[in-house]
Amino acid sequence: MNSVYFDSAATSQMRKEVIDRVYEVMKNTFGNPSSTHAYGRSSKSIIENTRKTISKQLGCNAAEIIFTSGCTEADNLILNSCVRDLGVQRIISSKIEHHAVLHTIDELQKNYGIEPVFLNLNSCGEIDYAQLESLLKDNSKKTLVSLMHINNEIGTMLDIERVAKLTQANGALFHSDTVQSVGHFDLDLSKVGVDFIVAAAHKFHGPKGVGFAFIRKNSGLQSLIFGGQQERGLRAGTEAVHNIAGLETAFELAYQHLEKEKKYILDLKNYFIDALKKHIPGVKFNGACTDASKSTYTLLNVCLPISPEKALMLLFQLDLKGIACSKGSACQSGSEKGSHVLSEILNEEDLKKPSIRFSFSSFNTKEEIDYVVEVLKEFISK
Ligand SMILES: Cc1ncc(COP(=O)(O)O)c(C=O)c1O
Repeated sequence: MNSVYFDSAATSQMRKEVIDRVYEVMKNTFGNPSSTHAYGRSSKSIIENTRKTISKQLGCNAAEIIFTSGCTEADNLILNSCVRDLGVQRIISSKIEHHAVLHTIDELQKNYGIEPVFLNLNSCGEIDYAQLESLLKDNSKKTLVSLMHINNEIGTMLDIERVAKLTQANGALFHSDTVQSVGHFDLDLSKVGVDFIVAAAHKFHGPKGVGFAFIRKNSGLQSLIFGGQQERGLRAGTEAVHNIAGLETAFELAYQHLEKEKKYILDLKNYFIDALKKHIPGVKFNGACTDASKSTYTLLNVCLPISPEKALMLLFQLDLKGIACSKGSACQSGSEKGSHVLSEILNEEDLKKPSIRFSFSSFNTKEEIDYVVEVLKEFISK
């Protein structure tokens, strides 16, 4: 096998239909969407149709969707403006959020003196809901809760409805980094009282450099970028029309095939778990990866029974054999920083072993899994 791609949580392969759409729009619809002539109006209609497609699927208003360059920008917009414009003084979050959130919280603490509070986590990476509830009871400071829907390294899922009920009942705002769930799970924003969510097209077979923020109506959020009036004044700058069109096609296809692909990918994941258990004695699964009720079907974080010395060679060897996956380990090389997620949930002993994140898409096959297991088996037995 020449190459095997098991890193779809980092970024996913674009579908052919998406590439065709991006190409077609680049070629034929090149007007500036802010121009009032026919070229401009054609571009504008692509943007507005995409907004409608997204809002229809997610159960929200089209005006509540703001296009961005991706998830990092959307997270930054929401967190920064909540503090700067809405007067948030306390952010309740967790230490296993993506750095797009954690580093933003650090900056907000430095620049605005906000109080960050990080919730306790269990060994699966689940938050302590009772602690959240008791923290929310103290509403002396305006509070934003920022908790990701699906953890990008270990796949643990948040009970987003439960958190939304808690924040609503206690007058707090709720932002969820949903980048690993949009396009992979149904979300109904008319029922789930989350104030802000985010998405990036490249996580669901769309183009890189485009995503969106859902910003609930009348939230009062303001732009971080000053310039034109694009995106209802919330994000100045000429829109990447071809990317937004690609996002629309990727989004439509993701939801059109959702149930079929979910079943297919979950079956692959279970096949992988069984094969690893069978062929790699001592293998462990990080987080709640093997519990379908608590974890996404799209990824598996595996802790391998390998000595730290040998571990240094592992990713290199996998790469040599054409296998693309992500390092999910705490620290295998003195010069590199390890995973901030695993260091929050693993014990000392498991942190010394290499952990690998395999993430899947409907492009993967069982033959590819057989190949990876064979390569791992051979590496471990040497
Ligand atoms: C949970 C999470 N948040 C934020 C991001 C950043 O997204 P982007 O690179 O599209 O800005 C990622 C990407 O890996 C992610 O997995």
